[in-house]
Amino acid sequence: METATQTLHRLTSYVPGRDWDEPADDPRIVQFTSNDIERLPWFYKRYSEALPRIALPRELPRTTASTVAVLAGTAAVEPRELDLPGLARLLYLAAGVVRTTTRPYGTWLFRAAGSAGARFPLELYVAAPEGSRLPAGVHWYDPQEHALVQIGPPPGGGAATVVATGVPWRTGWRYRERGYRHVYWDAGTMLSQLLAAADSAGLNATLYTRFPDAAVTALVGADGVHEWPAAVVAFGSADPALEAADAARPGEVDAAPLEFPLATAAQRAGDDGVLGPPWERGAPLDPLIDGAEQVEAVVLARSSQRRMDPTRGLSGELLRTALAAALRGIGVPHFVVVHDVDGLAAGVYRLPNLAEPVRAGALRDELYRVCLDQGLAHDAAFVVIGAADVGALDDREYREAQLAAGLVEGRLHLLAYALGASASGMTFLDSEVPALIGEPLNGLLFSCVGVPEYASARGGLPGVPTEIRTVTPRVGE
Ligand SMILES: Cc1cc2nc3c(=O)[nH]c(=O)nc-3n(C[C@H](O)[C@H](O)[C@H](O)COP(=O)(O)O)c2cc1C
Repeated sequence: METATQTLHRLTSYVPGRDWDEPADDPRIVQFTSNDIERLPWFYKRYSEALPRIALPRELPRTTASTVAVLAGTAAVEPRELDLPGLARLLYLAAGVVRTTTRPYGTWLFRAAGSAGARFPLELYVAAPEGSRLPAGVHWYDPQEHALVQIGPPPGGGAATVVATGVPWRTGWRYRERGYRHVYWDAGTMLSQLLAAADSAGLNATLYTRFPDAAVTALVGADGVHEWPAAVVAFGSADPALEAADAARPGEVDAAPLEFPLATAAQRAGDDGVLGPPWERGAPLDPLIDGAEQVEAVVLARSSQRRMDPTRGLSGELLRTALAAALRGIGVPHFVVVHDVDGLAAGVYRLPNLAEPVRAGALRDELYRVCLDQGLAHDAAFVVIGAADVGALDDREYREAQLAAGLVEGRLHLLAYALGASASGMTFLDSEVPALIGEPLNGLLFSCVGVPEYASARGGLPGVPTEIRTVTPRVGE
């Protein structure tokens, strides 16, 4: 018997011969016109009633440790308690609006962390009980105004907590039911930045991917269908404060969100009733090379590189440092396809074994094809692949596997930019992954790392996002 997430995974798998935006032929898949600009979902939630707002500090506290040391777990940082300026920095470096671009139909908002197709289907909330150094209450983070909006009374005791929710319609508008995967990819990507920002500031942050879903849904005023919790991060040594004292204001995710019953079923099937163990952070490691820049600088410098230089490769030290730090504490299998890295033969390696490829040979053309004729997968110096046996995962493990792959993508991104390279997340033809990696596993997420062809515009500080012109990637050449 297939689980709900296995069904969703199968019905959202890309195969050659069917365009990525064409729905699978199955009555459970919602039939609608995707990517319809007339129905473009809101970029973030709205609350129509007047609610108490707290403007967050726009001066972000600076940190000193290098991003590489932070991600390697070796940064020596004085422990601190989370206060309002520290919270403002965390929220901004995870989900603030850092860039904008003007399009004929309006202004597109780009957030601090990447998102598949720039859909940004996540919301952040802060649950601060009485007695913490934060304003007590349950607050929604307004990413454009950089403000907290109080939507509920202070939760019952515990550690101050950030809750990340997913809005399936916002990404499903473009990717249909596959957007369910994207919520967890994007959550992992965003959390890699939130956790790096926390670690660099000496904040004791603990990620939980297993929690009482119904309680957390109620805590943040989500409805469990158009918005549901994806992850929880507690700050301090106590368990996260997840118990609502009273109902939260629900707000609205969009004017007319469309439900994807397969995604709702996938989410419901994985729901839990109790708090699970903290996410394993993994042992610290000694990076082979370091970069000078701190997390706040790297987050604002990063973007998803649209064009990489296929004539230039990267060093073996960079690959080894980035992979070791990105995979700390990650149990999901990962592979790397090496196109052009000093000291490593081209081919596919199953990590952590870089001694010998599991498949030797030049694979640029194959990667181009597997990644739906996207030039980045061909032009990168190396491409990292997260994979898992979806048939062996239960519905909660499925969420966690997708989120783990997103964490790796986000960390690789930060490490690449910290070390002078560039990166982009990458989607793929599901059916082609087993032959590519030489194992009967399902693809989770690809990440391209390579030499940038241009320098991306730095993101702005709170309230002053950088206006950009978008660069078009090479497709189908
Ligand atoms: C999980 C994930 C998957 C992505 N997949 C692709 C992809 O298949 N092709 C691509 O060109 N960019 C991909 N991207 C990059 C996004 O398009 C990019 O993050 C988004 O446009 C926001 O821009 P920024 O990352 O520069 O802020 C992906 C990003 C993420 C986080």
